[in-house]
Amino acid sequence: MVAKSPPPINQAYLFSVAPMMDCTDKHFRVLMRQISRRALLYTEMVVAKALIHNPNKGYFLDFSPIESPIALQIGGDDPKLLSEAVKLAEEWGYDEVNLNIGCPSPKVKAGNFGASLMAKPDHVARCIEAMTSRSTLPVTVKHRLGIDNLDTDELLLKFVDQVASVGAKRFVIHARKAWLEGLNPKQNRTVPPLQYERVAILKKERPHLKIELNGGLNYPNDCFKALETFDGAMVGRAAYSHPLRWQQIDEIIYGEKTQFINASKVIRGLIPHAQKHIDEGGKVWDFCRHALQLVEGVPGARLWRKNLCSAAQQKNKEINVLEAAARQLEDAGL
Ligand SMILES: Cc1cc2nc3c(=O)[nH]c(=O)nc-3n(C[C@H](O)[C@H](O)[C@H](O)COP(=O)(O)O)c2cc1C
Repeated sequence: MVAKSPPPINQAYLFSVAPMMDCTDKHFRVLMRQISRRALLYTEMVVAKALIHNPNKGYFLDFSPIESPIALQIGGDDPKLLSEAVKLAEEWGYDEVNLNIGCPSPKVKAGNFGASLMAKPDHVARCIEAMTSRSTLPVTVKHRLGIDNLDTDELLLKFVDQVASVGAKRFVIHARKAWLEGLNPKQNRTVPPLQYERVAILKKERPHLKIELNGGLNYPNDCFKALETFDGAMVGRAAYSHPLRWQQIDEIIYGEKTQFINASKVIRGLIPHAQKHIDEGGKVWDFCRHALQLVEGVPGARLWRKNLCSAAQQKNKEINVLEAAARQLEDAGL
């Protein structure tokens, strides 16, 4: 199962952790970094308009150097604002920028961006052109197979061709369509069936393009298998809900020897970052809420999560909460 020869360092995208609103913030990314040194980590989607018009850019863009390789995901449909966002991403030290063409939420649709842009490949091409003209950062696109009744292989090919022709470097395809009318965002991640075969057809038709698979890859071996056909494997919910499931991913995907890691070691690794965050006025809960997912399927897991939850929300507990949580796990051999 182990890759034969390690891929070059710039191929972080072989395995990536998907952009997920309210999940993949900088604290979760630091947690995921304790588990994989090599994975490409995505931010939550940052709306270009909000970023450009807000004087506090750091609120959206700050990250710790250990999070790299890291991709900033941007949402928007205004080429000028998008290109300014790419410039900022470059200044902040991001490794690449991804344009969101997959979000089906009504709010995003009302702003004319996200998945609704799949109906406008010309306009997406103008956006990508503006984004690539402004910096040397790779610009990639994350999208669906189609939307509503615009859902044929021909339209998908046309979309990808047009966007590739202006410099999009890679395409991450959430392998299901989105219904913009009638399904909410959560249903749009489960109800339309996954159709990996359609992504495979696209890759076969356009072997020179970098095509990554996303959707329903739940175990490291799913990703390993996906790489037989595709250029990258992106994992969302299974990474967030089961972070330790991915502890051998660097070995499986990148052919690198991995160090043994368990839940208590991950928490110990978080402590210096949490301390810095607290010193800057943040809350320990911002780390603890993600750390809750580290312990599952063992006796006492539920109690440990309950205790961590309540301790992290009490006043003046701060870093001791994480230290105590790590100690309890160490005592239990976890
Ligand atoms: C809570 C949540 C938030 C998400 N937010 C985003 C987002 O900000 N940008 C995006 O492109 N996709 C977003 N997605 C979709 C995921 O990136 C991914 O495409 C989807 O969950 C399918 O992959 P999975 O089956 O591995 O979870 C979100 C998914 C979830 C569950």
